[in-house]
Formats: sequence, C-alpha cells, structure tokens
Amino acid sequence: MAHSSGKTLVQWMVAALIFAMLGGSLAVLLCNIETSELKLCHDAVTGENPPSPDTKCCDVVHRCNLTCLCGYKSELPLFGINPANAMALPGKCGLKKPSKC
Ligand SMILES: *[C@@H]1O[C@H](CO)[C@@H](O)[C@H](O)[C@H]1NC(C)=O
Repeated sequence: MAHSSGKTLVQWMVAALIFAMLGGSLAVLLCNIETSELKLCHDAVTGENPPSPDTKCCDVVHRCNLTCLCGYKSELPLFGINPANAMALPGKCGLKKPSKC
C-alpha cells in the first residue's frame, strides 16, 4: 500500500540521516541538539552494560528536546543503540523522562 511504503521511505531517510550524523559528516539540528553531539553519548547507549554517561553527554541530554527524541526511538536499534539505554539516559543525568515515551 502507498501508505506503508511511504512510512518505510521515511524510516530509511531517518536511518540515512542518523547514519550520516554518527559518522560526524553532517551536523544538523535535531530536537534542539547538533546531531554531531550525539556521538558524545554513543558509549553510554551501546552494549548490554554501558558505562554511565559522562558530563559531556549529560550536557547534550540536558539541552535536547526529549519529547522530540522519543519519536526516533524505534529507529535507534538500526544504529546499535539500545533504546532502553537511550531512555535511561535522562534519569542517569538527573532529568525526568518524557511521560509518553
Ligand atoms: C519538543 O518537541 C516536541 C515534539 O516535536 C514539540 O511539540 C515541543 O514544542 C518541543 N519543546 C521544546 C521546548 O522545544
């Protein structure tokens, strides 16, 4: 159906965008943060037992719009990011999680 293929296309576009961002080749503003800053949190959101986020990562988390970032949650596993880890970040940085996430 046209509807589902459109959604898939959007997901692939998001995937390609995040891929470019993680490579550091493209910096755009996503949810209030520079996408190039996301890699500061990379260690803290990958693997089974990631280390606690450092202050640089928390600084990014503090500035980003978490409600907005929530919308990208389903794309995160594509990049080796564990969504559960990602959603634990605000708590580890002393912030409240967005309620509907
Ligand atoms: C955060 O993002 C949400 C969804 O995109 C938007 O509705 C909201 O206004 C944003 N909040 C801030 C503080 O930018």
